[in-house]
Amino acid sequence: TMSSEPVNVNEFKALAERALPKMYFEFYAGGAEDEHTLKANEEAYQRITIRPRVLVDVSRIDMSTRMLGYSISSPIMVAPSGLHKLANPEGELATARAAAASNTIMILSFGSSYSVEEVAASCNAVRFFQLYVYKQRHVAANLVERAERSGYKAIVLTVDCPRMGRREADIKNRMIVSKQKNVEGLVSTEVDAVSENDFSLFSYTTEVSHINGQDVAWLKSITKLPILLKGIITHEDARIAVEVGAAGVIVSNHGGRQLDYSPATINVVEEVVHAVKGKIPVIVDGGVRRGTDVFKALALGAQAVLVGRPILYGLAAKGEHGVKQVIQMLKEELELAMALAGCTSLKDITRSHVRTERDRCQ
Ligand code: FNR
Repeated sequence: TMSSEPVNVNEFKALAERALPKMYFEFYAGGAEDEHTLKANEEAYQRITIRPRVLVDVSRIDMSTRMLGYSISSPIMVAPSGLHKLANPEGELATARAAAASNTIMILSFGSSYSVEEVAASCNAVRFFQLYVYKQRHVAANLVERAERSGYKAIVLTVDCPRMGRREADIKNRMIVSKQKNVEGLVSTEVDAVSENDFSLFSYTTEVSHINGQDVAWLKSITKLPILLKGIITHEDARIAVEVGAAGVIVSNHGGRQLDYSPATINVVEEVVHAVKGKIPVIVDGGVRRGTDVFKALALGAQAVLVGRPILYGLAAKGEHGVKQVIQMLKEELELAMALAGCTSLKDITRSHVRTERDRCQ
């Protein structure tokens, strides 16, 4: 038989497609409407080239860094994504162990299939918790309190979801959200129910309110944890994030699952980096599939990247081991890219190491 051992992260997608029911695979893989932004996230990386410096001693490469003061082995972290049990019965417990074994930070999704407490008990590691703020504020307050008590080190407030994007594969497949463990007993079944005429996933999230600076102030009043804002893609919002006291921003378009035709994230990293003026870290996600992508993101000013779908594909294909492999592959590719481009540590990766389309026009 042909060897199916994957040699890169992209190959896990095909393995996941084989392993999963169509409905679940498409829930993970899909994006909003025309999926323009979904594709653009990956394609934009392919239009950035690397300017290697070769007269450099690269016998030792150090990829380690810190995030909000916590050491991680590389600038590659695990993005929050819901419902890992659809990929593997061990769900987020497996993902959490793989992230811990890789010495990196996992951001647990609000919509996880295991609870904040269950994931915290799965293994010892630094983790962040991703939050949606519902109109029913008591839900958010309850989750923040539980996350803090369970030892999560930061709150990642997702701000690009005032309503769910229109994911047509999920509509066609009549994908129904399975139980979200964290909100059990908190969200009334009336709100929780997916009505017969509305097959959209998480239809009750229309109950999510629009987030503004005051919401962040409220959140700060109920927790001591640092708050990262996820879903910032303009300099205007980046400035507001700094003003309201965010501890960091995540440049994200939700992996192309929310507003279609929003820009590829790698193309707006610099805009956000310039706006925050080094006051807080900038993280980027969306379309990171290669170590060279991580290198490009760092060259454009990001401090780290999050990886979303490849983690789910690794989990679907091979469980905990698959997630470890995905992270390991990206790390090895980043290390090789750094060596070949003449960078021995992350701080050596500078703007002059990449050339974007805009650079070529000037
Ligand atoms: C997500 N994402 C997401 N983000 C978030 O803040 N809360 C969530 O619950 C989820 N859920 C979720 C489910 C699935 C199936 C996917 C694919 C994504 C978005 C995620 O955190 C991240 O922004 C993107 O996945 C990054 O893009 P890539 O790496 O998937 O291209």
